Amino acid sequence: MSKKTIKDVEVSHKRVLVRVDFNVPLSPDGKVLDDFRIRAALPTINYLVEHQAKVILMSHLGRPKGKVVESLRMDPVAKKLSEISGLNVKKLDDCIGEEVKKEVFSMNDGNIILLENLRFHKGEKENDPEFAKELASLGELYVDDAFATAHRVAASTVGVAAYLPAVAGFLMEKEIESLTKILTAPEHPYVAILGGAKVSDKIGVIQNLMDKVDAFLIGGGMCFTFLKAKGYKIGYSLCEDEKIPFAKELLEEAKKRNIKVILPADVVSVPEVKETAPSKVVDIEEIPKDGIGVDIGPKTIENFKKILSTAKMIVWNGPLGVFEIEKFAKGTYAIAEYLGELKGITAVAGGGETAAALRKFGADKKITHVSTGGGAFLKFLEGHSLPAIDVLEDK
Ligand code: 3PG
Repeated sequence: MSKKTIKDVEVSHKRVLVRVDFNVPLSPDGKVLDDFRIRAALPTINYLVEHQAKVILMSHLGRPKGKVVESLRMDPVAKKLSEISGLNVKKLDDCIGEEVKKEVFSMNDGNIILLENLRFHKGEKENDPEFAKELASLGELYVDDAFATAHRVAASTVGVAAYLPAVAGFLMEKEIESLTKILTAPEHPYVAILGGAKVSDKIGVIQNLMDKVDAFLIGGGMCFTFLKAKGYKIGYSLCEDEKIPFAKELLEEAKKRNIKVILPADVVSVPEVKETAPSKVVDIEEIPKDGIGVDIGPKTIENFKKILSTAKMIVWNGPLGVFEIEKFAKGTYAIAEYLGELKGITAVAGGGETAAALRKFGADKKITHVSTGGGAFLKFLEGHSLPAIDVLEDK
């Protein structure tokens, strides 16, 4: 990687300000529902602690819009981090100010502090230089391990780098390396699995992958725009009619370039999107007039697996059905489980639901990399440079 990491600089005895992305889902009673992003930051945190640094962690949580929102305090995150790391984590009630400085300047080597939600201050999202300077004054070195926020220009992701030496943490390094590999060193056959509700979210990704992959496997709500573009009757399934011309163009272009676009051969159809709704598997030509496609069907799963079994490289983003309803997550789960069985290939996946599906089968540990990024993962796949990565020092 061309960017410096914590291994390239002296961290011992220093106050190290670490941007992590601990923007994790919380239950209504304030418990961390998914600790994936917290676990992903542990290698950096452990390294810094082992090397006798003073570790000052900072993150946003949710979108509090520049004011204190009690339910978005970082306390449950600090508790979870402490539980899973076995380390003592002191959580502060603000991220800047005299009290915070007092605590930070009396830290001992190996101590960990977690600052309060950065987005309680307007200056964070506005990338206000004064706010960035205040944050920077807490540390002697800035480490960015928050890949999932690297597409955001904020005081803690971009602004601070103007005042402190700025390097990448291990998670950031792994994300950049894995994602760069799938964009710049394709191994063939290379297959992209794309799902999620909307085609419009994936246009940039499809365009950027077009000259790299050999096949697109398309599921999720977005497949219906393609199916309609091909003339199928899709009932009341999700469709972005204004994107039909794009879908047609893409299908044409793929044909010209000999890229396979595999759409569902069958789907699970329901009269309404509810767990209790009666569901049936129908061939794609037979979606009822009042039917809504909510998952890929068994034939499609087999078709997808067949293509995946020949792949040397796979990239996956987005669930293949209405993932939040367990009953309609079967297609996503089947593909997640299957990815975990494939050997000797490069497979990279990203997006919250995709990552959750892989974790259910332990497939996250078997594939090359599961990104912590949602929006950041997509931006990277679109071929954009990410502002928070740009500001890190080159080697
Ligand atoms: C994410 O969850 O994708 C990141 O934490 C960024 O959050 P945001 O979309 O609220 O900026």
